[in-house]
Amino acid sequence: MKTTGGTDAQKRRAGESAAEAVSDGDVVGLGTGSTAAHAIRAIGRAVDAGLDVRGVPTSFDARACARDHGIPTVGLDTVCGPDGPGIDIAIDGADQVVLTGEGGDVEEVSGTLIKGGGAAHAREKVVDAAADRLLVVVDPSKVTNVLTADVPVEVLPEAHTTAATAIRDAGGEPTLRRAERKDGPVVTDNGNLVLDCSFDAIADPGRLAGTLSAIPGVLDHGLFVDMADEVHVGDDDGVAIHE
Ligand code: 5RP
Repeated sequence: MKTTGGTDAQKRRAGESAAEAVSDGDVVGLGTGSTAAHAIRAIGRAVDAGLDVRGVPTSFDARACARDHGIPTVGLDTVCGPDGPGIDIAIDGADQVVLTGEGGDVEEVSGTLIKGGGAAHAREKVVDAAADRLLVVVDPSKVTNVLTADVPVEVLPEAHTTAATAIRDAGGEPTLRRAERKDGPVVTDNGNLVLDCSFDAIADPGRLAGTLSAIPGVLDHGLFVDMADEVHVGDDDGVAIHE
């Protein structure tokens, strides 16, 4: 899994802060990555103390983490079916989140982020979008005023060359993500490949999101436009909550 920037203590503060927003009886979307894992552990401790929640994992790793920490899990199709309760709250990490205005001051949460460092963005987007509230948990290295990180694009294996050509035509530079510990590409939980696409500064994330979604063979991409309701930024002293 690609990890970036901040310290584990910063990530822990962000994750634990968001976990405090979970209430008794909630169905909770459980994000993927090292920061979201801190939230899952904190929710697990609350479950030990009597909190009644059910978790909807966004990946194989999130499911394993939830089970290791005693959180009962439930499938998206069960809770989001016609008679299901839906998802009350989702807590997820990010690789970059737009938070600051031109001068570096926090103006308002745009709710737009890049995800997919853990190659889980397709399922994360489904769960995060289905939730009534999405809380994003990050360390300060993820905060920006303009998105510049590579955009992960999950593609059907057969389509990775044609999709790469279409991404180049759209002004991006795609690189097939390789596994760190073994020879070969990263394969997602859905059996697909990931193209990490550099676009330099992304001036219009909504427009780029539409362009990427329209490419044949693209399952989903890591641009989450206008999705976050709150951003919890953990730093060395505490947590700033932006809503
Ligand atoms: C997984 C993700 C992660 O949430 C994102 O990569 C952040 O990870 P971390 O908290 O480990 O830095 O999008 O697909």
